[in-house]
Amino acid sequence: MTGKKIVMITAYDYSSASIANDAGVDFILVGDSAANVVHGMKSTREIRMEEMLVHVKAVCRAKPKAIVVADMPYKSDSTPASALKNAKLFLKAGAKAVKIEVSEDTKIKVIETLVKNKIKVMGHLGYLPQSNSKPKVNKEETKLLKDSALLELIGCSWLVLELVPEKIAGEITELLSIPTIGIGAGKYCSGQVLVFHDLVGLNADDSFKPKFVKQYASLKKDAVKAVKKYAKEVREGKFPKKKNSY
Ligand code: KIV
Repeated sequence: MTGKKIVMITAYDYSSASIANDAGVDFILVGDSAANVVHGMKSTREIRMEEMLVHVKAVCRAKPKAIVVADMPYKSDSTPASALKNAKLFLKAGAKAVKIEVSEDTKIKVIETLVKNKIKVMGHLGYLPQSNSKPKVNKEETKLLKDSALLELIGCSWLVLELVPEKIAGEITELLSIPTIGIGAGKYCSGQVLVFHDLVGLNADDSFKPKFVKQYASLKKDAVKAVKKYAKEVREGKFPKKKNSY
């Protein structure tokens, strides 16, 4: 795959989707990382279809030009029938494609069923947060190459590679004709994805600083400063002023 790099970012609501849209990204992923960064849950396994649908609808209300991809939450895609039903709900809510963590062989049948029903699928290999293990670089080169080729063969349109060594991600990108989108997978992927809250420095968990994240702004720090100033002005009777009143 050659040409311009693909830019993907997560978004979970109307505001973050509007920001992503104004910034001109190519893909918006309504990630199940919403579990952690929006809901304060410990694991992405905790978020449900109903909650993900609320996020997808809010993102799509921003009418982004980017392709909106909905992440299939834990157990929503455990059988071909449940995956098809839930993927259709996401499409009805405005998403254009779904992402599936390919954790076991049963997901192959699931993806084949979605593709047969003309639903675009983004596969996800490497570290799989729904597997609930500690984040760990996936170094199984032969298996990753084999699985990537299989996902292309059965009709995935794109492939996310998470925490895959740069060299292996490069080999996969060379091997496939569908684009690869990396997170912690180095520079040879066809594109990159980051979680919105990590990128803009809005993560409530200040200790979450994996090396694959680059923080481009410090919005949480700025917001705390702004709210402190507001609190001080209210307590000192400096806000509201005449111009803020009717
Ligand atoms: O849910 C998510 O944000 C993701 C990305 C990290 C790829 O799956």
